[in-house]
Amino acid sequence: MNHNIELISNPFRNEDYTAQFESEECRRFHSSLPNYSHTPLIDLKQFSKTLNLKSLQIKDESKRFNLNAFKSLGASYAMAKIIVSSIGCDQSDLDYQLITQHKNAIKDMTFVTATDGNHGRAVAWSAEKYGCQARVYLPKGTSKHRIDAIESHGANAEVTEFNYDETVSYAATMAEENDWILIQDTAWVGYENIPKDIMIGYQTIIHELIHDEFIWPTHVVMQAGVGSFAASIFDAFCNISRPKPKFILVEPSGAACYFKSIKVGDGYPHPVKKLDTLMAGLSCGIPSILAWDIISQTADFFATCDDEVTLDAMRKLSQQKAGDHSIISGESGAVTTGFIEAICSSPKYSEFDDLIGINDSSSIFCISTEGDTNPDLYNKTVSGQ
Ligand SMILES: Cc1ncc(COP(=O)(O)O)c(C=O)c1O
Repeated sequence: MNHNIELISNPFRNEDYTAQFESEECRRFHSSLPNYSHTPLIDLKQFSKTLNLKSLQIKDESKRFNLNAFKSLGASYAMAKIIVSSIGCDQSDLDYQLITQHKNAIKDMTFVTATDGNHGRAVAWSAEKYGCQARVYLPKGTSKHRIDAIESHGANAEVTEFNYDETVSYAATMAEENDWILIQDTAWVGYENIPKDIMIGYQTIIHELIHDEFIWPTHVVMQAGVGSFAASIFDAFCNISRPKPKFILVEPSGAACYFKSIKVGDGYPHPVKKLDTLMAGLSCGIPSILAWDIISQTADFFATCDDEVTLDAMRKLSQQKAGDHSIISGESGAVTTGFIEAICSSPKYSEFDDLIGINDSSSIFCISTEGDTNPDLYNKTVSGQ
């Protein structure tokens, strides 16, 4: 297979990092939402044997609230907090029932966001559940299926002439001009509280593992767009009193703002201007400042993968055999499994295995963050057309 993967270690790692977020209240809130349930944790026993690993566990976020991606965890929590404070209630009473009791008071509240698709659908879904309004801006070239998915929750969806990062600025301007509430999943100077709550929301994924038959991992491999997701997961692992796994951050080669920032090496995040990847959810050029702070201290390694790596993993995960579950994993969901598969099976990357310390006693944990959110691309990929 003609893959291209790069890997560097992190000179800024802080051995003394202590977890920044407390997410127990958020976990309780999520469990008050209708139809809340844990997403499956899948132990790919046969696949891990073929890769000569002790275990490879994947949490399947395509099953999250029937929304095909993990993003609802962040938007639902951040929006609920804003609503509860607007109706003058105590944050410690945060609960879905409380929100529904105030439907009349919040029906005209408008939340606005920019999205590659998944976060926008999460904002639209949350607004629909809570009984308020959502406006969602999408970058040029967004697939029709993603737009339809957002509109199916009654939100107003509009495709802009801009790329993802420019669409974020546009949504922020529209929020300012119209007195709407910006609910964005990335942070910049002066806009930090809401993205922080979104990151706390993602940590419910890790709370769920404690109840499953979870094999404590030696390596946690997470994918990044702006980095909020991976930072939240790394932070959650640091909050558990167990040996710290090695953390590996994976980005598309065509949208690798963390990898670039580490290479620049001055300790600051740097943007990537030209974005070129099929991994729509990871196609972001500007690191979130909150995520940068956590990832630059916690990640052990940074990797980039070209699109072939994820396309290959989408196919492999869809066709697991001999007792393993198959997983419907979209292009942004499958890249971390693709990274592990490629470095474990191709002699070309054996030096990476040695550097990361991956061998037959390694237990790997990945999250498939989305299902077939772009069904045309997914079906074409897994059918080998
Ligand atoms: C499916 C999927 N996976 C991963 C990510 C990455 O999250 P973040 O942008 O917080 O790094 C996204 C972001 O939209 C996504 O949609």
